[in-house]
Amino acid sequence: MAIRVGWNLAGKADARRRFTFSFPAGVVRSDAMPASRRRLVVVSNRGPIEYDRVDGRRTARRGGGGLVTALSGLIASHDVTWVAAALSDEDVVVAQEHAGTVAAEETDGAGHRFRLRLVEVEAADYDRYYNVFANPLLWFIQHGLWNRPYTPEMTAATRAAWESYRRVNEVIAAAVAAESADSDAVLVHDYQLYLVPRMLRDLGLRTPLSHFTHIPWPGPDAWRVLTADMRLGLLRGLLGADVVGFQTARSVRAFLATAEEYLPEAFVDHVRPRVTLRDGAASVRSYPISIDPAAFELLAAHPAVAAAAERLTADLPERLVLRVDRTDPSKNVVRGFRAFARFLARHPEWHGRVRLLALLDPSRLKIPEYAEYVGAIQRAAREVNDQFADPGWTPIDLRVSDDFALALAAYKHYDVLLVNAIVDGMNLIAKEAPLVNERDGVLVLSENAGAHEEIGGHALSINPFDLEGTADAIAAALAMPDDERRRRAEGIRTHVRAHDVRAWIAAQLADLDSIVGAGGR
Ligand code: F6P
Repeated sequence: MAIRVGWNLAGKADARRRFTFSFPAGVVRSDAMPASRRRLVVVSNRGPIEYDRVDGRRTARRGGGGLVTALSGLIASHDVTWVAAALSDEDVVVAQEHAGTVAAEETDGAGHRFRLRLVEVEAADYDRYYNVFANPLLWFIQHGLWNRPYTPEMTAATRAAWESYRRVNEVIAAAVAAESADSDAVLVHDYQLYLVPRMLRDLGLRTPLSHFTHIPWPGPDAWRVLTADMRLGLLRGLLGADVVGFQTARSVRAFLATAEEYLPEAFVDHVRPRVTLRDGAASVRSYPISIDPAAFELLAAHPAVAAAAERLTADLPERLVLRVDRTDPSKNVVRGFRAFARFLARHPEWHGRVRLLALLDPSRLKIPEYAEYVGAIQRAAREVNDQFADPGWTPIDLRVSDDFALALAAYKHYDVLLVNAIVDGMNLIAKEAPLVNERDGVLVLSENAGAHEEIGGHALSINPFDLEGTADAIAAALAMPDDERRRRAEGIRTHVRAHDVRAWIAAQLADLDSIVGAGGR
């Protein structure tokens, strides 16, 4: 069965506003198969689309998050079979209809075809795997979010969640093994699936295999939160891959140090970054992820985005400061609002002329830490508005909703883009927004975002904990002369166009070729 994918640019809240999206013919379609085209099996927890049932009809919307944004670019260049967990009720129906086979030949928003295999996972296992073990436990370790004197507590519930994490990885690994017989490479993604590479090897898979972690890898001490068996399980699981990839050189160094600290049997080579175990070696590399600029520019030109832009520009302040994030504690929204308050306190000349628009996509709300964070965000915005608002002006416009079209519209019109994450794997918003921005907006960027290693030189760098420094950076961005704004914005655009998602995947495939070609594991 093939159904068309309606990319939800209008927000989950109003299903009637979903629409199917089509690109001008021939713009980014590439049906001719170049020599470099490969048969790839891509594996991630969240797939590129999620099914729903609206008014009795099956619909499909784009999966959320940076991983899907980036990996969708793969579909244009390679023959992709995407294996992902069935997340929604309708995903489960689709998985059951196809009883362990590829669910559908789908097309992405740009008309590129891919095969999708959704894997049904027992609901209680999925809940513990996603809502307890992967998020928040691993996520909070990897983003340094635990408040160690008090949290986390490792309990019987954590151990049950670890077992569920293992079972979900097992079910997904089995589906991948079944899809991989004729593939050129298997690319496993992110912290939800650290155990899959070793499981695939144990199932007899010999295909070149990589694992890429989209979030930061912290140094060895951060992992002391986990019990030794969990720590070792994750490391040995990952090291079943031929290539273990990270976003940044900093994460590569931290991973090598972690392997050295905890794996007595490992030989760690820091020069030609590699970890050798008894049964083979994994090369450890950094590949900063990116986007598909052509596809992204087309998305931004969609009529739904134009309609959102019309609503937005009807009420634009003289200067717009923008942030677009998931409501994730790692995104540091509360400190961002408090820094904006400090900026306003020091710069009364901007009162009434500038607004901070915060477009926040609600995320992982079944997890108490995430649900509480939404409340903290709302309180922080209210405090700033109570302190500074006057009858004609509200300094912070906070919108907590999944409205991709509005985010794209706002990308075009910001003067300052605030990305102040506590720490972030990459932060693709820092790459995609400048690409379509029409005002040479200035990027204020956390020095702890992966993107900073690449484009920090064109941004105003901030320490995300430094409220005064962030306030100063906002002031400096607003006061920056036009020629400097243009130079910095152009610097980011040039970098992103030259280092797109095709270059990202090509580098990984080239490494897999050379490593496996040279004898592999
Ligand atoms: O990039 C990190 C990541 O966790 C991805 O793995 C994920 O798809 C995205 O962020 C969004 O998170 P979630 O899938 O939990 O909504």
